[in-house]
Amino acid sequence: MSKTNSQSVQRYSSTTRVLHWVSAVLILSTIPIGAIMLREGLARPTQDLLFILHKNGGVIIFALVVARLIWRAISPPPPLPASVSGWQQKAAKFGHWGLYGMLLVMSVSGYVRVRAGGFPVEMLDAIGAPTFVPRSDALADFAQTVHHYGRVFLVALIIAHVAAALWHMIRRDGVMRRIWPPVGS
Ligand code: HEM
Ligand code: HEM
Repeated sequence: MSKTNSQSVQRYSSTTRVLHWVSAVLILSTIPIGAIMLREGLARPTQDLLFILHKNGGVIIFALVVARLIWRAISPPPPLPASVSGWQQKAAKFGHWGLYGMLLVMSVSGYVRVRAGGFPVEMLDAIGAPTFVPRSDALADFAQTVHHYGRVFLVALIIAHVAAALWHMIRRDGVMRRIWPPVGS
């Protein structure tokens, strides 16, 4: 945690900030890729490429979420400025845990859908990682349903999160500077 020069706003560590923005870029690409790759009429090679990008991007997101949670336990978030009211602090906490939770639900359900369906996850196969779920059409269908509906909750949380960030940017209350820029002091 460090302090900015202009105002005494406590900031996230640079490791947290880099992890946040790398994850954000990856998540904001993986979601539209997931939606586009299921469209009818796509050329087969295009669809295959999008599936590969989506599945492997999802695995990287999972690894980043786990890394973020471990790092968060080592380097806890700095306290929010006093200008952020009690209910807003509670809403932020709920939203952040909701985002972590839904990212785990989405990456695990995606993985189970693919593995239980008997399909490859190229990156994991390349390093010889074992498959952690049995081949089962019923399990694959269940995971597909979770993945399909889970996206609605994840997207709703992201919209609320970005709206709250924009609100703080307009107010210029220092909350945005806790997480931005991704690198530097
Ligand atoms: C946080 C990570 C992830 C997000 C945000 C995400 C998001 C999405 C979205 C929005 C869709 C379109 C769903 C629909 O319209 O029904 C989708 C589909 C899909 N995703 Fe993911 N995904 C993630 C991780 C993964 C992973 C790790 C895998 C596999 C290793 C995966 C495999 C799939 C597959 C196979 C589909 C097509 C499902 C079907 O057959 O209908 N996803 N994903
Ligand atoms: C998919 C996209 C995103 C996800 C999943 C995400 C997730 C998160 C999470 C989980 C935290 C809490 C960090 C912690 O305490 O452990 C956080 C903090 C933050 N994020 Fe994002 N974020 C995303 C995109 C964005 C964008 C686009 C903005 C700005 C326009 C933004 C602005 C912020 C700010 C200002 C904070 C600090 C909040 C505070 O000080 O309590 N995020 N984000």
